[in-house]
Amino acid sequence: MTLLETMTTRRSIRKYAARDVEPELLNKLLEAAARTQTMGNLQLYSVVVTRDASEKQRLAPAHFNQPMVTAAPVVLTICADFNRTTVWCNERKATPGYDNMLSFINAASDALLFTQTFSCLAEQEGLGVCYLGTTVYMPRLIIETLGLPRLVMPIATLTVGWPDEQPEQTDRLPVEAFVHEGRYRNYRAEDINTLYKEKEERPENRQFVALNGKETLAQVFTDCRYTKSDNEALSKGFIDVLCEQGFLTAEQANQANYGNRKLVTERPEVLECDVVRFQNKKEKWVAFVGLLDGEPYEIFTGLQDEEEGILLPKSVQKGKIIKASNPDGTHRYDFQFENKRGYKMTVEGLSGKFNKEYWNYAKLISGVIRYHMPLESVIHLVTSLSLDDESINTWKNGVARALKKYTKSNNETEETAVDDEDA
Ligand SMILES: Cc1cc2nc3c(=O)[nH]c(=O)nc-3n(C[C@H](O)[C@H](O)[C@H](O)COP(=O)(O)O)c2cc1C
Repeated sequence: MTLLETMTTRRSIRKYAARDVEPELLNKLLEAAARTQTMGNLQLYSVVVTRDASEKQRLAPAHFNQPMVTAAPVVLTICADFNRTTVWCNERKATPGYDNMLSFINAASDALLFTQTFSCLAEQEGLGVCYLGTTVYMPRLIIETLGLPRLVMPIATLTVGWPDEQPEQTDRLPVEAFVHEGRYRNYRAEDINTLYKEKEERPENRQFVALNGKETLAQVFTDCRYTKSDNEALSKGFIDVLCEQGFLTAEQANQANYGNRKLVTERPEVLECDVVRFQNKKEKWVAFVGLLDGEPYEIFTGLQDEEEGILLPKSVQKGKIIKASNPDGTHRYDFQFENKRGYKMTVEGLSGKFNKEYWNYAKLISGVIRYHMPLESVIHLVTSLSLDDESINTWKNGVARALKKYTKSNNETEETAVDDEDA
């Protein structure tokens, strides 16, 4: 069979015969695949070959236990590798500069090109292969299992074996769907209707839609298979691992995760602040949410209490939290607001006015917010705290309630949060 014939008749294989892939054949394919084009002829990849049953078992959870991992005779994990080149440079009086994002992209491209050539060659030899996209979902687990050092990142996994199935070929879009002559031609609604007609009308895809209780095939992807929230969470995890593997600095990772929101670890002297009041089981609470560029930076909460707590005019919704120094060198936080007549009023020493335990918890929560943990996760963290005391549990609900106001998904207005009764 010619390569063209192999490609036009190929399909992914997920069931393998109980027959080994001979090491000589595998090596021949790996060696031939290395003829693939590679940046600077540096071969910025490494391949980890897993044949041992117990090692495959250890890899399986990283791939959500997809059965091919343990069933295939060979599992290949192909990694972007700037480690080897870096060691080579260091050994040869050359100073490497490959601990950055661009180098990662170059190495990842090299790794994928190598993988695809290997896949074509293997299929040409009659082997069956399947890519595992899960490689980039839980990279940390793969890194630990395979002992990947700094500047090595898993990019692709192929399960390889002799086919024990001949599934139907999957559909493809017509060539006009992805080839643009001269200039990119954007897609109008009618183009989409034409180009996706066959795909959407295929019985297996209609069944897919029905099985998932969806209206359209596209919804199966957006709502079930590859959701925004999963993609965001996995992206964040991937960026964190890129950082751990030395391809990104902490600052760059922060920028990748949070755009231009800067990490401000030194608390500014003055912060704008929202006052959020709420009621939990008849107790009146107040939260001061310190804001940096409109985003929560810290939170103080406590009972509104004439005796020991804090009591503010009801009209006060905003103010400033000012970090002030005491004569003995310690710090305190003051709340300043403008009263109806435009005079500045200052409530000194918020910390002294609130229960010490709440104060300490709030300090921890503020630390977490400051380092940009997503607010939804902070709320989850706070509400999952297991606390014995009844009033501290009330406190925890209050904090969650106050922070909810700032989450992306929240449409709640300040009015509804105020004086809201907790069930
Ligand atoms: C990057 C990538 C990730 C993939 N991940 C998986 C996977 O995790 N599990 C799986 O069963 N197939 C996986 N596949 C295989 C695709 O589902 C398959 O290629 C696609 O449905 C087209 O089918 P075909 O290869 O039989 O033509 C992956 C393919 C690619 C290119």
